[in-house]
Amino acid sequence: MDMEQVLHMNHGMGDNSYANNSIIQKKVMAEAKPILEENIMRLYSIIQPQCLKVADLGCSSGPNALQMISNVIDIVDSTSRNMNLKPPVFQFFLNDLFRNDFNTIFKLLPQFLETLEKKKGHKSGSCFINATPGTFYKRLFPDDSLHLVHSSFSLHWLSQAPKKLDNKENVHLTSTSPAAMQRAYVEQFQKDFKLFLKLRSQELVSKGGMVLTLIGSDKTQKFRTAWSLVGITLNDMVLENLIEELKLESFNLPLYDPTIEEAKEVIEEEGSFTIQKLESVILDWGAPNINDKGVDNNNNEFDINLKAEFATKFVRAALEPLLKAQFGEELMDELFLRYKNKIVQLIMEVEILEFPAHVISLIKKV
Ligand SMILES: C[S@@+](CC[C@H](N)C(=O)[O-])C[C@H]1O[C@@H](n2cnc3c(N)ncnc32)[C@H](O)[C@@H]1O
Repeated sequence: MDMEQVLHMNHGMGDNSYANNSIIQKKVMAEAKPILEENIMRLYSIIQPQCLKVADLGCSSGPNALQMISNVIDIVDSTSRNMNLKPPVFQFFLNDLFRNDFNTIFKLLPQFLETLEKKKGHKSGSCFINATPGTFYKRLFPDDSLHLVHSSFSLHWLSQAPKKLDNKENVHLTSTSPAAMQRAYVEQFQKDFKLFLKLRSQELVSKGGMVLTLIGSDKTQKFRTAWSLVGITLNDMVLENLIEELKLESFNLPLYDPTIEEAKEVIEEEGSFTIQKLESVILDWGAPNINDKGVDNNNNEFDINLKAEFATKFVRAALEPLLKAQFGEELMDELFLRYKNKIVQLIMEVEILEFPAHVISLIKKV
């Protein structure tokens, strides 16, 4: 499967859309905001461009893409005020793959720009928003043209899945995956992340900043991940002849959740960036926004059902287009109903569904 042509999150603003099921990603951005602030303040103390050029790589569709813009403008505005400087003109480049639903972002823009003008005093002509379709595993911008690169919750997507190696009945790594499979995933991540860093170092100005967040793992992780649960569900469906065995045997998810040490090793080996911050935050993919969802967190049956539903929609919004392309649209409702039941079971066994997200702040070396 050619990821550049196929991969995207669920389009639109419907019940299963990415736009309506990305609260966890919004939470990660909020967690990373102080680190973004630190990086921008550092940048601004060295370079005060008339036009600040910022790229968001893997922006997807929906409100989170605009939240990133709003966060950067807030930080730069208050930094400029503190330094008695006039705020710069902003140019944002929203990047994602070719099949991304950019239109959903565009439709939110008139309201967003109006709010920017009314609440933050940024008149028309002070903030330009462009779309830049393409893979971030290739060059996207001219040499030395960006001041800041932001990428949230996207770099765990590999450029391609490793080939199947004796993990026929699964679609991702599990605790019982053969060592060769583990190696194949790590090596693909190392190759992709290294290339990403090299390309961005060409596009950023000297001392430019980069803030990245991605799903990670840690050595003590006891829980089955969202990804391996997809494989278990698909395998059940093969056993019941709902899915052809061959289709499962030829499919792996192009995702890798590195440990913080693995990410650090690649950054150091690639060598273009100094690490300003590298830390992990722990997230709950079952109920990140308990109050909004009206969950009382007592783990009663009603609660568990809501958590499982929430977690399923989070995973469905991201994985459905890929799974649809491999297994067929008609199986999606059944697949995710079964997936939800697996999560209910999981919550009853382990109670919480936690995973780490790594937040990485980098500075391009001179
Ligand atoms: C989970 S979404 C995160 C979106 C957004 N940054 C947020 O925080 O809500 C990951 C996005 O990365 C995009 N993506 C994955 N691989 C990519 C690549 N090689 N180049 C550009 N975008 C990519 C996906 O299409 C998807 O929209």
